[in-house]
Amino acid sequence: MNDSNNKGVTRRKFLQGTAAAAAASSFVPTRFAIGAQAPVRVGILLPYSGTYAMLGNSITDAMKLRLAQAGHKLGGRPIHFVQIDSEMSVPKAQQNTQKLADKEKVDFLVGPVHSGIAQVMAKILGPRQGPVMIVPNAGSNAVTGPMCADNIFRTSFSNWQPAYPGGKVMADDGHKTAVTIAWKYAAGRQMMDAGAEAFKAAGGKIVKDIQVPFPDVEFQAHLSEIAALKPDAVFAFFSGGGAVKFVKDYAAAGLKDSIPLYGPGFLTEGVSKAQGAAAEGIKTTLHYSADLDNAANRRFRAAFEKATGRAANVFGVQGYDAGSLLVMAMEAVGGDTGATDDIVKAMAKAEFPDSPRGYWKMSGAHNPVQDIYLREVRGGKQKMLGVAAKALEDPAKGCRM
Ligand code: BEZ
Repeated sequence: MNDSNNKGVTRRKFLQGTAAAAAASSFVPTRFAIGAQAPVRVGILLPYSGTYAMLGNSITDAMKLRLAQAGHKLGGRPIHFVQIDSEMSVPKAQQNTQKLADKEKVDFLVGPVHSGIAQVMAKILGPRQGPVMIVPNAGSNAVTGPMCADNIFRTSFSNWQPAYPGGKVMADDGHKTAVTIAWKYAAGRQMMDAGAEAFKAAGGKIVKDIQVPFPDVEFQAHLSEIAALKPDAVFAFFSGGGAVKFVKDYAAAGLKDSIPLYGPGFLTEGVSKAQGAAAEGIKTTLHYSADLDNAANRRFRAAFEKATGRAANVFGVQGYDAGSLLVMAMEAVGGDTGATDDIVKAMAKAEFPDSPRGYWKMSGAHNPVQDIYLREVRGGKQKMLGVAAKALEDPAKGCRM
């Protein structure tokens, strides 16, 4: 990672700076010559410690893999990364965002994983022209709802998207009552609301909504309560290290075989190996399944495994597609980071026929319109059972773009 003295050089500034020399020498700089001067500055605000560390690492590694496949260049220019560990800290989010946007003067800001941090970032960046924000995970409905903005794009999902079809699956499996349990912050709240909405619409009843402070992993008292309530099913959101602990504790409490677990796919994604036998049979809904039978997924899985020594997961796919979005937009403007309007226009009409998750396109609110798959853990791996919702678009309530 070499820093550059040409921080934030835009095409316009370069032209001003070289105008006199150009006149004297009759040298007219081309767009390529200008773009070749300074690295494109890409800020990354993701978790590399704590319960979501696996998510942050998967996103970063896959995005860098995609950029390596593009020759380590964006629009012909080298790339300089400025990376900060978000520590999943909402109180530090404002300072971290301002550091990247104002001090480091990044052209693009990729992050975060956590919905609460996403809302802080969107509040700061949405009203500005740049940097362009690319959300490679955090599903906060608000970010592509009331807070939606020209320069904010998401390559992952809204919290509503993978959760709503999950509630319907639970009802279709014949369950009439359910307990919801999730971490108590925007992601947990929005996913539980979406799952409950679909479950109730299909005639189901939520008998208890349990909220666990984030990122606590003390589940014992909650599991005792679930055992006493005896619902037909449990609908849960946890992810990363917390999901490993919850699923193992659930099985150890003797609930696995009597009260089936459901949820948005984060419950078993990237962690089913660590969860071992405790994850077997858990059904979830998500916009990716590692066994998806398409050439792009096969290529991605092989390349990710070769580069990292780890198996691919949805977080990697979201990072990989963030890389593709950057490559496409920077090609569209010939490397001119000053052409924000044109970058935004290119991103707004992005389509990904070759994503590992299958075809998706950007919605009017800048969120993926994508298929949601029904998966089940079998033999420690995700088995895709079918498409739970085809080309699902987030309702983007409150977005006025
Ligand atoms: C979120 O905070 O939006 C989130 C975190 C982990 C997995 C999925 C969503």
